[in-house]
Amino acid sequence: MVIYGFFGTFLWLVLVEKAICIHNETSNILRDIFSDYDKRVLPFNSGPVLVNMTIVLGILIELKENQQLAAYVISHTQRWYDERLRWEPALYRGQSEVIVPQSMVWIPKLFVYNSLESKDMLTENRADVRLYHTGRIKINIPQYVQAICRIQTESFPFDCQFCAVALASPLLNVKEMKVNATQPPLDSYFTGNAEWYLFNVTVRHMEFAEEGESRVEVQYIFHLQRRPIYYITVIVAPTFLISALSILGIFSPGSNDGPRNEKVSLGLGSLLAMTVLLGIVAGAMPKSNDIPLLGYYILVVIVLCAVAVGISMAFLAVSRHFIQKEQMPSKRLLRMMFLTEYRKRRSTIFRGVHNYRHSQDCDNQMYSKVPEIQSICNMMEEIADSHRSMRRKADAKANKKLVEKEWSRVFARFDYFFLVVFQTFNLTALAVFLRVAWLPTPELREQIL
Ligand SMILES: *[C@@H]1O[C@H](CO)[C@@H](O)[C@H](O)[C@H]1NC(C)=O
Ligand SMILES: *[C@@H]1O[C@H](CO)[C@@H](O)[C@H](O)[C@H]1NC(C)=O
Ligand SMILES: *[C@@H]1O[C@H](CO)[C@@H](O)[C@H](O)[C@H]1NC(C)=O
Ligand SMILES: *[C@@H]1O[C@H](CO)[C@@H](O)[C@H](O)[C@H]1NC(C)=O
Repeated sequence: MVIYGFFGTFLWLVLVEKAICIHNETSNILRDIFSDYDKRVLPFNSGPVLVNMTIVLGILIELKENQQLAAYVISHTQRWYDERLRWEPALYRGQSEVIVPQSMVWIPKLFVYNSLESKDMLTENRADVRLYHTGRIKINIPQYVQAICRIQTESFPFDCQFCAVALASPLLNVKEMKVNATQPPLDSYFTGNAEWYLFNVTVRHMEFAEEGESRVEVQYIFHLQRRPIYYITVIVAPTFLISALSILGIFSPGSNDGPRNEKVSLGLGSLLAMTVLLGIVAGAMPKSNDIPLLGYYILVVIVLCAVAVGISMAFLAVSRHFIQKEQMPSKRLLRMMFLTEYRKRRSTIFRGVHNYRHSQDCDNQMYSKVPEIQSICNMMEEIADSHRSMRRKADAKANKKLVEKEWSRVFARFDYFFLVVFQTFNLTALAVFLRVAWLPTPELREQIL
């Protein structure tokens, strides 16, 4: 027990001693290396300062397509050598690194040049840097950045965007500062948001010329893929259903005049609905020259429905015209439509007239002698006349009905034909539209800003 207590006290003393020493050594190191350090001076002696940069955290907050802006939280690291900040660890009980406030050392200055707004998440006095005994310095800069992103809307809503946060040196040229950007480490954290899937982040560095000197530039490129489910459920599915149903309604083989009027108003109603859907798409997109794929799809469907309504209206006019003229469809037309010819029912009016005329002639000599018989005969003739005209009317009505029926048979064939044609077009448009979803993602362009 006593021995244990002794060792315990000893161990505790050693630990405390060590802690105190480390604390003391840090101040010693700082006192020694910062004794003649001037942070305003660039840390280069023979060549330019070489800054290694990479991004370790990237969270897409939002992407406003119609304003062409993307907002992120990023955190990127910079590493460089400052030869003046070196020490020999052996002289300081093996301590090989220290942490000091950022404001004590020279920091490479880069600014986000495509930003609308960028905020450092740490204030100057809260940010630290890590110094290694070799003179190496590491800094981690968390930032909120709202940057311009040129949206390519051609394949919306199956589009893939490359949005960059581009940093440039405001003053130092490549003779004074160079940047070597490396791909993000495997354990870095990147994520998109509800609307965008972030599938890759790449880093590239380049040089640009300005006023005859070249300066460094670093781009952190976010590869974003849109999640299209929202647009498919809210716009594509209703558009397809509305168009399919209205084509079905417009060309559903039905009777003549009345329902056809309703068909036209059905078609116009669905056109209106689709125009509203097109408006939703247009509101989400920048007002640029290129129409997004979804816009094209809706336009095609609108045109399809408009043509269907037009054809239906033409049918209405043509069938009215023929029915008014009581003109039967010609045999050739019927044969073209694979319809059997109608059976011709002979009208009985003319035969009847003939009979009446022969048997009942009131001007006959025999009848004229007896006035009563004459008047009876006249009455009979009047009755016969009215009967004839009634029959003629009934026959004309029957004929008209027949003509109507024949034409409606013909137009039913047309209706079936156009129903199939238009539904095929409608399905084809949907298939062509959805096909784009399976196209491979495009390559990263050379110029993305
Ligand atoms: C720090 O080290 C010095 C000797 O270098 C010693 O005198 C002093 O007590 C130490 N300070 C603390 C707080 O232990
Ligand atoms: C920068 O990266 C290069 C290799 O990519 C490496 O040799 C060099 O030591 C790095 N510099 C710093 C300060 O980490
Ligand atoms: C950046 O580092 C790579 C090795 O990782 C090296 O090949 C290249 O020369 C370096 N670029 C600069 C500008 O130093
Ligand atoms: C990310 O992009 C880099 C460079 O273009 C590529 O080498 C890498 O395979 C990509 N990673 C994924 C997951 O696509």
